[in-house]
Parts: sequence; structure tokens; C-alpha cells
Amino acid sequence: MHNGKTIIVTGVASGIGAETCKVLKSQGATVIGVDRNETDIADQFFKADLSDPSSIDALIDTLPAGADGLANVAGVPPTAPAEAVMKVNLIGLRRLTVGLITKLADNASIANLASLAGFGWASAIEQNKAALALDFDSDIAGFCAENGLDQPGGRSYFLSKESLVIWTMQNRWTWRDRGINMNCISPGPVDTPILKDFLETLGERAEEDMKVMDRPGTPRDIAPVVSFALGAGANWLRGANITSDGGMSSHILCGMHDL
Ligand SMILES: NC(=O)c1ccc[n+]([C@@H]2O[C@H](COP(=O)([O-])OP(=O)(O)OC[C@H]3O[C@@H](n4cnc5c(N)ncnc54)[C@H](O)[C@@H]3O)[C@@H](O)[C@H]2O)c1
Repeated sequence: MHNGKTIIVTGVASGIGAETCKVLKSQGATVIGVDRNETDIADQFFKADLSDPSSIDALIDTLPAGADGLANVAGVPPTAPAEAVMKVNLIGLRRLTVGLITKLADNASIANLASLAGFGWASAIEQNKAALALDFDSDIAGFCAENGLDQPGGRSYFLSKESLVIWTMQNRWTWRDRGINMNCISPGPVDTPILKDFLETLGERAEEDMKVMDRPGTPRDIAPVVSFALGAGANWLRGANITSDGGMSSHILCGMHDL
């Protein structure tokens, strides 16, 4: 499926990123891994801190040109400081993606790991517009404080993922002239090292979700979906949000609309 392709995977050292790397390799891709933690799982590895603009810019300069895909998987959970959540999950991801566009091959695909946590974007449009206006030169700490993102409850994480879903939609056609498409994948709770952070932050809400679900997802449920989004079969998917959540988003929608 990916024979002869080169695909960049961020967050490659753990969880969904590591499994995505394995799946892509098994399907013939050469994988270039990026993470703040070292790993030898990928064919080539670049260490970078995606919360740091100078590290991101150095990475953009160093990565080889001509990659056919970019999987933006790296992310931090809601237990991390709000500023770090906004930087890694949204602001850094965008800087890396936009900075790499000219180096990607024509017809490349971009897959962003969003989340079921991004489901409620339509209920917070103004806050999301403000979040999407942030870059590394903004007062990110001030934004987090003004919006209560540093309070318990994990709003920083929800907002980062809502904005990522919106940003993906907004860029449905941005690179269409070069055949580059971008989509996001929104998993429900997945059994990786950060699952306990979600359960801790969300408390009772998460317990309710886990009771309704037959099981949490595993990285093996998500990696093939990421691979699909990076493949030729997903060429006409543009700006889409692919839910892979054991039915949770459908369950929420049916509940919301009394269906
Ligand atoms: N696990 C879940 O329940 C779940 C659900 C929905 C979405 N997601 C999303 O899936 C993605 C992967 O999560 P996971 O569950 O595999 O988590 P994980 O902790 O297993 O993996 C995340 C990886 O990102 C890397 N990373 C974090 N901050 C970084 C930084 N500043 N610079 C470079 N690398 C950094 C980590 O080192 C780690 O290898 C994240 O974006 C997460 O938000 C996870």
C-alpha cells in the first residue's frame, strides 16, 4: 500500500505513533520518525521538541525533502501544563506542517491526530478562533490564564483538539493545486501511556464513557486508520474528521438529538 513512499511520523516513540510506524513499515513505507524521546523503531530518527519553535525550525531544515506523507501524532495529555498542551497539540503542529509543505512531494497526504475531545468545536467558535490566532510570538500563557485553561478539567486539551479539527477543515483546499490533502483522525480513549492522564483529568465524565464503551481502543485500532488517511484510497478526503472511537461520537450525537 505504501511501497516506495517515505512518511514522516511525529510522536513515534510511544503509543499510536509507534504503532503507526510499524504499520506503515509493514505496508512498504520508509518511516522518518520524530519525537522528543529517542527510539530506533523508525528507519531514520530526528529528535525534536515540538513545543519549541527553534527546535521545530531546525527540524524543518534538517528533514529530507520529498516525503509523501506526514502523520502529526505527537501530543501531550490534559495533565500537562495548559501552555504545553496548546504549544504541542496545536501551535507546534501547525508550524511544523506549514513549514514542511514546500519540502513535501506533490500529492503528499497529511494526517493529524485530533481526538473525540475535539467533538464540541461548534459550541465554542469564538474561543477556537482566538486559539487559532495564536502563534509562538503570542502571549500563550496569558491566553491560557484568560480562558481558564490552567484550571482543573482539561479544557486546554479539549480546545487544542477542537482547534485542530477546525484547522484541518479550514485547510481542505489550501494545497489542492499540488494534490496535497490533509485530514484528521479522532480516536476515543485509547490504551496508551496517556490514558490514565485522561481518566485522572476527566474524573466522573470519563468513568461514564468507559462504562458505555465495550473497551478502550488500542493503538492497533488507530494506526490502520492513519495509514488509510495517508494512502491513495483517501485522495478525495479533504478536511475530513475521521472518527475511530468505538461508536462514542455516534452515541453522543444520538443522545444530543434524542435519536
Ligand atoms: N490515548 C488516547 O486515549 C488518545 C485519544 C485521542 C487522541 N489521542 C492523541 O493521539 C496522539 C498520540 O497519543 P498517544 O496516546 O499515543 O500518547 P503517547 O504518550 O503514548 O505518545 C505521544 C508521543 O508524543 C511525544 N511528544 C509529546 N510531546 C512532545 C514534544 N514536545 N516534542 C516531540 N514529541 C513529543 C511523546 O514523547 C510520545 O512519544 C496524541 O496527539 C493524543 O492527543 C490519544
